[in-house]
Amino acid sequence: MTYTPQLRELMKKVEESRASRVGVNYPRMTPEERRDVLQKFHPDYIVDGFREIAVGVDKGARMPVEMADVFEAKSRVSGTELDLTADPDYDVDVLIIGGGGAGASAALDAHKAGANVMIATKLRFGDANTMMAQGGIQAADKENDTPAIHYLDVLGGGRFENLPELARALVMDAPLVIKWLEDMGTMFDKKGDGTMITIHGGGTSRKRMHAARDYTGAEIMRTLRDEVLNQGIKVVEFSAAAELLLDSEGRAAGAVLLNLETEQYEIARAKTVIIATGGSGRLHYRGFPTSNHYGATADGLILGYRAGAKTIYADSIQYHPTGGAYPPQLLGLLVTEKTRGLGATPLNIKGEQFVYHLETRDVASSAIIRECEERNLGVPLPTGITAVWLDSPLIELTHGEGTVERQLPAMLRQFQRFGVDIRKEPMLIYPTLHYQNGGLLIDADARSTVENLYVAGEAAGGIHGTNRLMGNSLLDIIVFGRRAGRDAAAKSKDMAVPAGLNLEHAEAYNKALEESGAGNGRVSPILLPHYTHR
Ligand code: FUM
Repeated sequence: MTYTPQLRELMKKVEESRASRVGVNYPRMTPEERRDVLQKFHPDYIVDGFREIAVGVDKGARMPVEMADVFEAKSRVSGTELDLTADPDYDVDVLIIGGGGAGASAALDAHKAGANVMIATKLRFGDANTMMAQGGIQAADKENDTPAIHYLDVLGGGRFENLPELARALVMDAPLVIKWLEDMGTMFDKKGDGTMITIHGGGTSRKRMHAARDYTGAEIMRTLRDEVLNQGIKVVEFSAAAELLLDSEGRAAGAVLLNLETEQYEIARAKTVIIATGGSGRLHYRGFPTSNHYGATADGLILGYRAGAKTIYADSIQYHPTGGAYPPQLLGLLVTEKTRGLGATPLNIKGEQFVYHLETRDVASSAIIRECEERNLGVPLPTGITAVWLDSPLIELTHGEGTVERQLPAMLRQFQRFGVDIRKEPMLIYPTLHYQNGGLLIDADARSTVENLYVAGEAAGGIHGTNRLMGNSLLDIIVFGRRAGRDAAAKSKDMAVPAGLNLEHAEAYNKALEESGAGNGRVSPILLPHYTHR
């Protein structure tokens, strides 16, 4: 569906102001202005969007109601006859749950350390938010930059709520991650002389965003997946983890897997377990559309929590400022921040800029919501919602004709499919549910608070405080995936085959639910969003 005549009429305001915006930076907000707009407009501050969890190791912690609903739910396997004394279907040193970038990275390093590794993944290997990440991956590897400067950006972006040792690990490993990926064949954008092209993202004080056009995640996932397969690491697809198994001493010792093809449960015994199941965007907090893949239903969070793993910042959700708003086929899909990194500016119905184009995501999203809700200066769409413009033709005007085609080929095609040429016409955007800032608490080796249970990727919390910067997620999946893989492999060398596999923790959780009156018969993890159920 191309833009309607009414939208084309409104677009003229954007065209009229365009030339005056070339090379001119809109003023950044003061710290007070930032705090104010966040508190009034960021969904994390909407009191009735949250409640306290009634059971478990963090009983009383605040989380979005949709997340609390799946946490306050019975185990999927309760009431199912499972013989945990028989020979298991799979028996490995390191079981990795999740086949995205974090899982693949963990597998590679655990395998390299000599462990017998298996990846069990709910959908296909690579069906993950990693694959959908677009704009880039941060690393301080240029002369004018250092991990220390990167660290300060990470903390500033995270509202200084990051766990310092995790932020430190993130930035210190970053240059090594770029090298590791390149050595395996990731095709990063480079200049003719071979140096990496790097640009800014929101909240970065140096140009350290490395990209593969605007499909960086797909390129990284391609590399990782190829390498896992080349190394002969076992990958079991369409096998969702339904519950963790513990041993007689309460240590993680495997998982009950649900084979989605046969609908049978299978038992995987493991000396160590790594949760790399990604985030929870498909819970659609506050009804927001999401940029997440279909499997992002908080599975690992729930399984880890039931087993006793503590969480951190479960109430902190990231809304990406530039989700697609129109044409309707693109609702909620990611419009990469690289678009803003290349200079595209957000504009209201009058064609006026209202926020610095590279504010951090939390602030930029809040400013867009304010423009539409409080100031009533959003662009009304035929679908009944309001949005703001993102002036992508400004990129061509600033950097020269052909820049969009070269730097944003996926974005260009995504909009072209529905009749919008983003080289000539601005995009219509509104915040979309993008990322879970918090998750299961880990240390710098990705160890959770349950022995032999590791967490890497979006399921882990604390790295990014309460607001992640662009490009630090593709980075953290690899940093903490590899750290988890190495530590889990080392730990499994010292471990005997786990004995006394049991589900007592899940039964105790069910009992606590009944006693608290919470739950109402819900079952989790839900594994797929409800609208995909057959
Ligand atoms: O906007 C983006 O390209 C998203 C990147 C990220 O979340 O890191």
